[in-house]
Amino acid sequence: MSKGGTPKIWNLEHQLIGRSTWYFDEVESTSNFALTFASDERNNGIAIFADEQKAGRGQYGRVWTAAKGQAVLLSVLLFPPPFLNRPALLTAWVAVAVCTTIENFLGIRAAIKWPNDILVDRKKISGILIEQTKGTVVGIGLNVLQASHEFAIEGLPLATSMQQFSPHPLNTHEVAKQLLANLDEDYQLLLLGLKQKLERDWVRGIGLLGKEVQLEEQGKKHRGRLLKQSFESLEIETSLGIKLSFVPENIRHLEELINYAEGQP
Ligand code: BTN
Repeated sequence: MSKGGTPKIWNLEHQLIGRSTWYFDEVESTSNFALTFASDERNNGIAIFADEQKAGRGQYGRVWTAAKGQAVLLSVLLFPPPFLNRPALLTAWVAVAVCTTIENFLGIRAAIKWPNDILVDRKKISGILIEQTKGTVVGIGLNVLQASHEFAIEGLPLATSMQQFSPHPLNTHEVAKQLLANLDEDYQLLLLGLKQKLERDWVRGIGLLGKEVQLEEQGKKHRGRLLKQSFESLEIETSLGIKLSFVPENIRHLEELINYAEGQP
């Protein structure tokens, strides 16, 4: 599966996530490679990092491209206990760890675009792909070094990278290691049942509480003020004063409704 030859191993002093990280110059897809370990639960927490992917996969069957050495391309194999085995929770965990990593290096707060894109300055800096077949494979693409003209050439004017917000040169391997450390730290809290901090950071990252929103659940659009957001449910109040509750996993889109008051969706 790997065309990258013999991997290097990063033995990181973590509790679980990335304790053993396999680093390749090149693979087809770090998520595909992580999946090859999924028949053995002793591989829980193993991470695969690559400088380049030949067939990187994105959400909704799209491709994920990044020029060699320009992005963090990372996948983690997990066997979460049943109480953590919920897409909404795992997505929030990864999204918050990516935001924390960005803040660690750049001192700025990224935003989480529901459910699993990370934006800086309204442009996409990172995407997350969580796949649950045998085990759970968490795939993260985080743009680090690309210049804006490179995204323009790729036809991605709404993408950005960390380097565009830093006066200092960044290093993808340092960013990847910090991301793994953040994932590890927060996962330990989750294993202990301590979800509150993650939930708070997730709600803050989404940044829509109290705002007029539009959401899509099973093909149907709903509008209202977002009254509550937790891992259990999201609650909106419509303009008619009706309260509606949704399970996070059933919500496909959630976005701010601009000019709602003026009736201009
Ligand atoms: C998205 O479409 O926004 C999600 C992109 C996820 C891309 C990452 S890169 C590392 C991992 N390996 C893959 O093949 N995909 C994910």
